[in-house]
Parts: sequence; structure tokens; C-alpha cells
Amino acid sequence: MVQTNSVNSQASVFDLSSYLAERQPLVEAALDQAVPLTYPETLYEAMRYSLLAGGKRLRPILCLAACELAGGSVEMALPTACALEMIHTMSLIHDDLPAMDNDDYRRGRLTNHKVYGEDVAILAGDALLTYAFEYVATATQGVPAEQVLRVIAALGKAVGAAGLVGGQVVDLASEGNPDVTIETLTFIHTHKTGALLEVSVTSGAVLAGASEPDIERLARYAQGIGLAFQIVDDVLDITSTPEQLGKSVGKDLQAQKATYPSLWGIEESKRQAQQLVDEAKAELQGFGELRQPLIALADYITARTH
Ligand code: IPE
Ligand code: IPE
Ligand code: MG
Ligand code: MG
Ligand code: MG
Repeated sequence: MVQTNSVNSQASVFDLSSYLAERQPLVEAALDQAVPLTYPETLYEAMRYSLLAGGKRLRPILCLAACELAGGSVEMALPTACALEMIHTMSLIHDDLPAMDNDDYRRGRLTNHKVYGEDVAILAGDALLTYAFEYVATATQGVPAEQVLRVIAALGKAVGAAGLVGGQVVDLASEGNPDVTIETLTFIHTHKTGALLEVSVTSGAVLAGASEPDIERLARYAQGIGLAFQIVDDVLDITSTPEQLGKSVGKDLQAQKATYPSLWGIEESKRQAQQLVDEAKAELQGFGELRQPLIALADYITARTH
């Protein structure tokens, strides 16, 4: 009885800020070590400029939390966690290019192409993307090879034409079209953003050797928070400030992007994001106390201001 109470009180006092204060520097240090500065310095400087510019590190932190939830260790998942952030950073560098969203600020500093030029920015993105796969393959330790192989394949699918890249293409093709349907908008969001968040969670579970039903439940959790994450990003583009976000605001409206607020309005978009997060959290029933970080990270997605 006493034990149950203490477990319950522990659950209610899970402190996300101290959890993030421990995990974010862990990820920073691992990324710093994963991409040392070497010849050709301009390229590595450009890679490190965006990779080590802060950021919430949500994808690596989700990966580590899912691995631990499924009985694995931080060490098993750290290379994949770093790879997820390399891929995410590539997507930001390319997303900001003049040919895409044409943005000048990211993570509180000038965008990569503003500092290094478009040529180097494109190549720095390419280098981060390809190194991510090499890094998972060569740096992962203590995990059976077939689980590592499965993660590499899942990463490729999540980032390529069937995932992030496909979503970005439809995002760009839908600019200026006032008749975008909810189906197309959902395709954009689940692909450009949801796919990488989903693989962040499932790869952690796969590395830990989780069962198929557990991986499926975690995938549904991640799909919910993934869509909610982009809805909130769209809302913040309207309601937040450049200082809070570290990137330009108001650009979606200006570029006539297809967004949730443009289709549903701000309040209804927020309500839908909250509902997705609540449904995502419900998927974690039955995982026990180790689910607390994933519950808190889901809540953070709708509560966040940056
Ligand atoms: C921004 O991602 C791009 C989207 C997918 C909306 P984040 O909001 O996670 O950016 P960082 O990593 O914290 O800078
Ligand atoms: C970004 O969507 C998705 C990817 C980078 C893959 P946005 O274009 O809305 O992201 P921000 O607002 O520039 O961060
Ligand atoms: Mg974009
Ligand atoms: Mg953008
Ligand atoms: Mg945005």
C-alpha cells in the first residue's frame, strides 16, 4: 500500500524541467563529439553552426525515453538520438533556403545560408543527412545487428519521399492555394514533421528490443504528438514573437502556407492539438512508471511557447 502511494506521488511530481536540464546537455555533448571540426573546415563549421545552435532536442530526447521505457539504456540509443538531430538539422537548413521558406533566422541566429552561402548550406545539410546513417551504423553498441538495420531502414523511410521530403514537397506545392483540403493538410503535417517524430520514438523502442505490440502502441503515441507538434508550430507562427521562437514569425500567412489555423482558426487548432495529445497519452496506459517522461513530453508539446 505504502509503495503504491509513493509510486503515485512520484508520478505526479515528475519534473520535466529537471529532466530536460539533464537530457539536453547530454545530447549537446554527444553531438559535439560526433561531429568534430576537421578538413574541410568550412563544411564542418557550417554543420556544427546549425547542429550546435541550441534547439529543444525533442527528437533525441524522445528516442532515449522510448528506449528506456522498453527496457534499454541511454547508451544503446545515443548514436541514433544524435542521428535524429542531424537529420532534423538538415531539414531546418534546407527548409530555410531561399528556394523553400526563405528564412533569415533559426534557433536565435542567422540561418545557415545567410552565413555560409547557399552552396555550402545545401552541402552541409547533405553531409549531416548522410553522416546520420553512417553514425547509427558505426557508433551503435550493445544492440543486435538486425535491430540496428531495422532502425536504419526506418530512418530512411521516415526522411525520404515517403516521409519528410514528400511532406515538404506537398507543403511547397500548396503555397498560395486557398482550397487545400484537410486531407492534404494532414498529409503535409504527418509527413514533413510527424514521420521523423514517429521514428524518433519507435527507433528507441526497436533498439531496446521492444515487442511488436509495444512498438505499435508507441507509434500511435508518436503519430498523435507529431501532428500536434506541427499544429502548435503553425499556431505559434501567429501568436508568438521572434524572440521567443528564435525564428521569424508571421511567415506562414505571408507565404499563404496551408496551416491548421488557416483552415480551422487558432482556438479550434489548439483544441485539436490538445485532443491529439490526450489520445497519445492514453496509448501509454499500461507501460508503468517509465512512461512518465513520454507523458510529460506530450504535455510539453501543447504547453510550449517556443
Ligand atoms: C521546427 O522544429 C521545425 C518543425 C518541424 C516544426 P523544432 O521546433 O523542434 O525546432 P528546434 O529543434 O527546437 O529548433
Ligand atoms: C518545417 O515546417 C518542417 C521541416 C523542417 C521538415 P515549417 O516550415 O513550419 O518549420 P519552421 O516554422 O520553419 O520551423
Ligand atoms: Mg517549411
Ligand atoms: Mg519553415
Ligand atoms: Mg512553421
